[in-house]
Amino acid sequence: MIPAVTSPTPTLQSALAEIGGEIDRAFDALLPVPADPRARLYEAMRYSAIGGGKRMRPLLVVAGCSLFKVDRARAVRAGLAVECIHVYSLIHDDLPCMDDDDLRRGKPTLHRAYDECTAILAGDSLHALAFEILADEATHEDPFVRVELALELARAAGPAGMAGGQMMDLVAGEMTLDLASVTRLQQLKTGALIGWCLEAAAIMGKVPAEGRTGLRGYARDIGLAFQIADDLLDHEGSEEKTGKRVGKDAGAGKETFLSLLGPERARQQAQALVEQAIDHLRGFGDEAELLRAVARFAVERDH
Ligand code: IPE
Ligand code: IPE
Ligand code: MG
Ligand code: MG
Ligand code: MG
Repeated sequence: MIPAVTSPTPTLQSALAEIGGEIDRAFDALLPVPADPRARLYEAMRYSAIGGGKRMRPLLVVAGCSLFKVDRARAVRAGLAVECIHVYSLIHDDLPCMDDDDLRRGKPTLHRAYDECTAILAGDSLHALAFEILADEATHEDPFVRVELALELARAAGPAGMAGGQMMDLVAGEMTLDLASVTRLQQLKTGALIGWCLEAAAIMGKVPAEGRTGLRGYARDIGLAFQIADDLLDHEGSEEKTGKRVGKDAGAGKETFLSLLGPERARQQAQALVEQAIDHLRGFGDEAELLRAVARFAVERDH
C-alpha cells in the first residue's frame, strides 16, 4: 500500500513560509534591475529566483544552523547561496539540450519565457552570485569559515557533485544502470547540494570533524529519499501540484529507482531512508525537531 500524502505539519509549514519570505526579499534586494542593456538578464534571474520553489535547501541550512546557535541572518545568506546554485541547476536542467521542459514552478521555464541565451546567462550569473554571497563578510566574519563554505559548495556543485550527477543522468537514457549506479547518480545530482546544506551549518557552527558524522548521515539519507520522491512524483504526481510536467522520466527511458524497483518498493526504500536519517539525529534533542520534520516532508510531499 502506498501511504497517503500528508500536508506539512504546522511548524514545518510556518518554517517553510518564513524562509520563503526571507529568500524572496534577499533576492529582491540583491538583484535590482539596472537601466542599461543588462536589464533583461537581471529580469530573467528575478523571474526564476523569486517567488517559487519549496526553499527546502535554505530551510535545511537554517534548521541545521539553529542547532549550533548560528546567527539567523548569516544562516539565511548561506541558504541563499545554495538556492542560487539550485535555481541555476533547474534553469539549465530545463533547457532543450537537457530535459527540454516548458513548465517549472508553475510557470513557463526561463528559456520559454525569455530565450535560450538569456536562460544560459541567468544560470551562469546565479552560479557566480552564490560564491559572491559566500565570500562576502556579511556571511561570516571569519575568512576561514567563508573559504570552507565556498570550497565545499564548489565541490558539491561541480563534476564531483551536482554537475557530475547531471552528466550521469544524461547518459542514463542511453544505457542500463544497476541499482548501485543509480544510487551514485542520485547522490551526486541531488544529494551533494543537500549535503552541503548540513555541512554549511557545521562549518558556520565551527563543529569539529568528529561532530559532523550524524549530520552527514542524515543529509546522505534524505538526499537520496528526496530524489526518489521526485521520481515518484514524476510517475504519479500531478502537474498542478508539482508545477512541472510529469511522466517525463519514463518517456526519456531514464533509469531511476522507480524503473528498477517499481513504485511500491521505491516508496518503501524512501521511507526506510527517512527513518535512517532521523536515527542519525539521535545525538540531538528537541532542537533537531525541525530537521526531523523536513526528513518526513522530503518523501511525504506532493509537490
Ligand atoms: C527539484 O528540486 C529538482 C531536484 C533536485 C529533485 P525541488 O523539488 O527542491 O524544486 P523546488 O526548488 O521546490 O522547485
Ligand atoms: C534535476 O533532476 C536535478 C538537478 C540537479 C537540477 P530532475 O531533472 O529530475 O529534476 P526535475 O524533475 O526536472 O525538477
Ligand atoms: Mg534532469
Ligand atoms: Mg528535469
Ligand atoms: Mg525529476
